[in-house]
Amino acid sequence: MHRIAVLASGRGSNFQALIDAVQFGAIPDAALYLITDNPRAYAIQRAQSAGIPHSLVDFSAFATRQEFEQALLREMQRVSADLYVLAGYMRILGADTVHAFPGRIINIHPALLPAFPGLHAQQKALQYGVKVSGCTVHFVDEGMDTGPIILQRCVPVLDGDDEETLAARILKEEHVALPEAVRLYCEGRLELVGRTVRIR
Ligand code: GRF
Repeated sequence: MHRIAVLASGRGSNFQALIDAVQFGAIPDAALYLITDNPRAYAIQRAQSAGIPHSLVDFSAFATRQEFEQALLREMQRVSADLYVLAGYMRILGADTVHAFPGRIINIHPALLPAFPGLHAQQKALQYGVKVSGCTVHFVDEGMDTGPIILQRCVPVLDGDDEETLAARILKEEHVALPEAVRLYCEGRLELVGRTVRIR
């Protein structure tokens, strides 16, 4: 059984894509868990509807960022997952947390990295005028969206797109890419060679 802990801060549609993939057997032999930093995250409702346990490490309940980060790290250790998936987790993980789970944290980002890291990636892509964008699933290192790339899926950027239409087109691909990457991880098919991920 693979224990997969998802960290999500809001809507949780990528978390839902993982719930569906586990329920439909696309990720066999997996148990999901949700950790959120936001008591108002819709992801919590999704967990409850699917009977998935969750815990809250409420960012606003801590005096400092460091205390929050330590509590989050303890919670991640307590959950003791094989894989931690950042799916719309809106904070940067501290270096201690990243180092605590080497090769066991992945993230989904709504652009074709290394283009447009950080927040508002879809808007940055539009403003730059690229003709193709997409999403990237990657291993997390201490940098901002800089870790080894596992999978990418691309979409066209169309005349007349605004941030919302482009984000929606990319999101559809995120919902394919993320479960696929988690499945490959669970099957033990991802191999890191330097900073390149080989899929066996
Ligand atoms: C997604 O676009 C993800 O790539 C980005 O934040 C958004 C989260 O959406 N990091 P959701 O919460 O999974 O619906």
